[in-house]
Amino acid sequence: MTDRYAVFGNPVAHSLSPAIHAAFARQTGQDLAYEAILAPRDGFAAALRAFAAAGGSGANVTLPFKEEAWRLADARSARAEAARAVNTLRFDAAGLFGDNTDGAGLIADLCRNLGFDLSGRSVLLLGAGGAARGALLPLLDQSPARLAIANRNAQRAAALAAEFSARLPAKGRVRLDACGLDALGAEAFDLVIDATSAGLAGAPPVLPGGLFSRDSLAYAMIYGQPAEAFLAFARAHGAARCADGLGMLVEQAAESFHLWRGVRPETASVIERLRERSA
Ligand code: ATR
Repeated sequence: MTDRYAVFGNPVAHSLSPAIHAAFARQTGQDLAYEAILAPRDGFAAALRAFAAAGGSGANVTLPFKEEAWRLADARSARAEAARAVNTLRFDAAGLFGDNTDGAGLIADLCRNLGFDLSGRSVLLLGAGGAARGALLPLLDQSPARLAIANRNAQRAAALAAEFSARLPAKGRVRLDACGLDALGAEAFDLVIDATSAGLAGAPPVLPGGLFSRDSLAYAMIYGQPAEAFLAFARAHGAARCADGLGMLVEQAAESFHLWRGVRPETASVIERLRERSA
């Protein structure tokens, strides 16, 4: 029997996840179907239960349900706990197992696809919401020399840095600090990651120009047109390389696929095809 999976979101019609998982299934010979399900904003839990009751095997969860999925999970991975958000659910006999593959997807894209070694580098993470939180521990695990969190609301950045500072001893000598966006500008970073939702709202974060050096990588965790304003700003202010989050999207999907099926799909060709499709 064909196993069923789905991505739940609102909105979700734009999601590339069905195409990505269909490509993974073809490539690995796995018998599965994957659909997009639009859940009402106040009806995610009911929609998820209905899908599980109808024989679903697992789900991806996107905005705005990742925190609710974390609350609904009966058991969670360590990385889901750190992120306090779940983007992948596996329906086990014992209940819902929640994982978060976003951070692993980001690291795979940075390190493998873009060849950016984070070890000893300086990283600026823009934003202090759910996306930034999910990226923090995976980034710290790569042993950068410095990780600065900058957010429009400086207090939110400080709270996030304080929370994750408590985890630092095991992660080596990372200098972790926080500030408001308005305090940036005096220092350039090797890697600048936009983890804000500003691009999705059509307005990039207001940033000073001096954040990028001649070998900086600017990375947007969102992809396509909404990422463009930040990346164009980075390009105009001297960033050597720019990347949107399409690779991260495919890599987090591969990690979910692995959790569900025990098989790791090849990602490069899938990323390439999606890029061609959107070009
Ligand atoms: P997500 O789950 O996508 O991270 P979120 O938790 O609502 O969403 O967080 C949104 C992030 O984008 C926050 O860091 C927010 O900054 P504030 O904490 O100051 O609100 C940031 N953000 C949203 N719009 C922004 C804008 N126009 N300029 C700068 N930062 C913005």
